[in-house]
Amino acid sequence: MSTHGDHGTGEDDQHSSASRELLILYATETGTAQETADRIARECRRVHFHCRVQSMDAYPPETLISEHLVIFVVSTTGWGAEPRAMTSLWNMLLRSDLPDDLFEDMDFCVFGLGDTAYEKFCWPAKKLSRRMQSLGGREICSRGEGDEQHRLGVDGALDPWVECLLDVLIQLYPLPHEQHSIPTGRPPPRVSLSDLASNTSLNSDPLAEDAKFHTALVKCNRRITAEDWFQDVRHFEFSFEDDIKYNPGDVAVIHPFAAASEVDSFLVTMGWANVADDFFTIEHAMLDQTLPDHLPKVVSLRILFTRYLDFNAVPRRSFFQLLRYFATDELEREKLDEFVSIEGADEMYDYCQRVKRTAWEVLSEFRSARIPREYVFDLFSPLRPREFSIASSVELHPREIHLCVAIVRYRTKLKIHRKGVCTSYLSELKPGDILRIGIRKGFISLPTDPNIPVVCVGPGTGIAPMRAVIEQRIHEGYTNTTLYFGCRSAHKDQHYHSEWESHAEAQKLRYHVACSRDGPEGVKRTYVQDLMKNDAQYIWTILGQQRGILIISGSSNKMPTAVREAVRGAVERFGGRSNVEAVEYVAAMEREGRLIEECWS
Ligand SMILES: Cc1cc2nc3c(=O)[nH]c(=O)nc-3n(C[C@H](O)[C@H](O)[C@H](O)COP(=O)(O)OP(=O)(O)OC[C@H]3O[C@@H](n4cnc5c(N)ncnc54)[C@H](O)[C@@H]3O)c2cc1C
Ligand SMILES: Cc1cc2nc3c(=O)[nH]c(=O)nc-3n(C[C@H](O)[C@H](O)[C@H](O)COP(=O)(O)O)c2cc1C
Repeated sequence: MSTHGDHGTGEDDQHSSASRELLILYATETGTAQETADRIARECRRVHFHCRVQSMDAYPPETLISEHLVIFVVSTTGWGAEPRAMTSLWNMLLRSDLPDDLFEDMDFCVFGLGDTAYEKFCWPAKKLSRRMQSLGGREICSRGEGDEQHRLGVDGALDPWVECLLDVLIQLYPLPHEQHSIPTGRPPPRVSLSDLASNTSLNSDPLAEDAKFHTALVKCNRRITAEDWFQDVRHFEFSFEDDIKYNPGDVAVIHPFAAASEVDSFLVTMGWANVADDFFTIEHAMLDQTLPDHLPKVVSLRILFTRYLDFNAVPRRSFFQLLRYFATDELEREKLDEFVSIEGADEMYDYCQRVKRTAWEVLSEFRSARIPREYVFDLFSPLRPREFSIASSVELHPREIHLCVAIVRYRTKLKIHRKGVCTSYLSELKPGDILRIGIRKGFISLPTDPNIPVVCVGPGTGIAPMRAVIEQRIHEGYTNTTLYFGCRSAHKDQHYHSEWESHAEAQKLRYHVACSRDGPEGVKRTYVQDLMKNDAQYIWTILGQQRGILIISGSSNKMPTAVREAVRGAVERFGGRSNVEAVEYVAAMEREGRLIEECWS
């Protein structure tokens, strides 16, 4: 293994090439960190590094000690938390018995992904780089922090960071004699494909072989908002033959299928209609680039774009960089060159990200581009599974999962109608249909002491995990649960109100609802946080004196911050704390697991 003393001597080319192994560990919730890790690996390839790119949860934490060069790429999730894939590695790094020279033979650096709209910008990346340093690792390049608020998204910080990284790598690990950096150019495709005979039959569905996924039968798909209401929210019930187990707060994982009619039209746009159903095998050629999960070895283009690749995603800059190599029309190439140049950044943002143009729409406009099939994994993002908080208690509904899902439909700034990929797929399901559903552990952990009360704050579809919590607690005989629910109109979108009202009548639940649009025009709207402010004394009694648990779920916009603010106010007014002490009190609740958040965008 190399030591720091070896770096940069340039005397031993043998050593330099032997040590040109680099591990990139990423932790992602929605895929951006994974694409970023792929991009970093491609760039490091230019200075002759061999990269392994791995998700942190697929990497055995105890082997980290034997790595000599590691790049961590980590995003940020609810209230500054680390992505779930990072938790096991992070817990290992936090162990108090680790020596402070544990990673003295390791060079590392960190690229974080976050959003400055959130208070705790890129916290996991910041904490990781501090912890690695305190364990003796040498941070060879200052931490990069990609910000979704930047007009180029995370690329705004990633581009200069990668340049800096390559400079540092060349300094510390000089290129062997007569080797030069590989100039930027069309990268080799990450797969090679071989055509198969037309009578090829498909292997079984790879999801069926993943023990985390269970076969589900649709029992119910019912609209629960009023028919004349603008938003379509559905209650789903699925039944299982497997004796599934889950806890309140756990999450259902669903791989969507793109709509058949859209896939058809997309394949026509791409000029692939005649070969859409030809089967081919996939060989993973560039091992430093990741492939979609559960990808079968034998597929057709139709299957790929139905289940594994997302032609409806809003593309990033790297998409335009690659597309440039396939456009044959001079004007189109000029335009693409402009988009990927530093000066053209604003124009590309206005053309694509601001108006949420999809990859498909871009390709419909750059018609001269002919994409070789083996480049599809380089150009298109993986079609990601979506997560939905489970809205039922398995104790009350054995072998069942219920969901509460808002069907995504909206109009872009260009007034184009858009549908959410997964919720459109779900909305079409009929009783008797079959799909596969995975179960993932959530953040919620309920008290076992019957004297500890629970306060649930779950406006909109944030009610989903709260329904699981409330069902479970009532099933176990607890009566000290409070629900703050928020909607726009009592008669249009007050999800599951008859259940809450009947539990409240039976004295098993305290139910409070804020209907923000039911008041007269011009009067201040009431939200869940306003109800909590009005109930400040009660909030202090439950959360302060009785040391209850607060669970917040729903949209990750301003609501979670406003709810924390309401709790701080209660601590100040009725707990006799100063403002600073109240802030610390709420932070301590979080550290102690008494304030739990499960929010999504
Ligand atoms: C832990 C967790 C739990 C979740 N639980 C639930 C749940 O219980 N119920 C639920 O309904 N959802 C839940 N979600 C959200 C869910 O996973 C999906 O993200 C959501 O349903 C949309 O998926 P989709 O494929 O239909 O939409 P996509 O095709 O992914 O499109 C969604 C994207 O469209 C854009 N968009 C959507 N609306 C607008 C708008 N009005 N204006 C502009 N752009 C817009 C946004 O960019 C958004 O990211 C949860 C998410 C997480 C992470
Ligand atoms: C539910 C949710 C919570 C988030 N919370 C934070 C946060 O507290 N701090 C932050 O910097 N970014 C936060 N983000 C932004 C993400 O980290 C950012 O969008 C990132 O690019 C996502 O990367 P990923 O797709 O690899 O997970 C949050 C995003 C979501 C959807």
